[in-house]
Amino acid sequence: MTGSAWQYDEFKQIGTDYGSIEEVAAYDERMAKLRNVGDECSKTLTLLELAPDSRVLEIGTGTGEFALAAAKQCSHVTAFDVSQVMLDYSQAKARDRGINNIAFTRAGFLTFDNSALQIDAVVSQLALHHLPDFWKAVALRRIWHTLKSGGRLFLRDVVFSFDVDDAATCVDRWKNVVIELGGEDLGLEVEAHVREEFSTFSWIMEELLQKAGFSIVNATYQGQTFAEYLCRKD
Ligand SMILES: C[S@@+](CC[C@H](N)C(=O)[O-])C[C@H]1O[C@@H](n2cnc3c(N)ncnc32)[C@H](O)[C@@H]1O
Repeated sequence: MTGSAWQYDEFKQIGTDYGSIEEVAAYDERMAKLRNVGDECSKTLTLLELAPDSRVLEIGTGTGEFALAAAKQCSHVTAFDVSQVMLDYSQAKARDRGINNIAFTRAGFLTFDNSALQIDAVVSQLALHHLPDFWKAVALRRIWHTLKSGGRLFLRDVVFSFDVDDAATCVDRWKNVVIELGGEDLGLEVEAHVREEFSTFSWIMEELLQKAGFSIVNATYQGQTFAEYLCRKD
């Protein structure tokens, strides 16, 4: 499919554009107000049941916190992102922390070379919503191909588990929570997310995962706007 004239250009930025190291650093600070990233990483690593020689791949690594945490447990970690600025930032963090077993590569869900990876676990957080639903299906199938039999996918993203009639109430509630935690600017990011990005419904996401060949081991929904899926390739 890569190379077709109708191939989606995943390198074209949608939503908030992090064009400089300063903007990426500001993103990292905002995330620290909204999330307990350290706890998220530990919880995800526990769910994945990794061994020291496990091969782990993160897609949409952003500022790299999960890849950095995984690299302390596993010898082979690969981190993909379409943004060179994000990769520069996360690579600098790895150097500062003395971590040198992460292969940072500029590639995305639709373009990474999945011919020979034989991965034990793939993790993607807050990144798949950058793709429209058809392309999410393509991405999930590519991830399925890259995993070993029995391999796991952990997906965390903005996913809507409200009825469409309740959208205004639910999005406003999400926006207000975010403003309370991180200020008015983050409320604007919520608005832009819903307007311009491709978060989908939970019933579509579950079907996409299953159609790609995964068993959903566990699905958790938070506040009707976030989801976590632990999936297995049988
Ligand atoms: C909101 S950030 C999330 C970063 C990090 N995973 C986290 O949890 O904080 C989304 C990241 O996905 C990346 N991204 C967007 N489209 C992508 C694609 N098609 N393939 C891989 N990464 C993508 C962006 O460059 C950005 O670094």
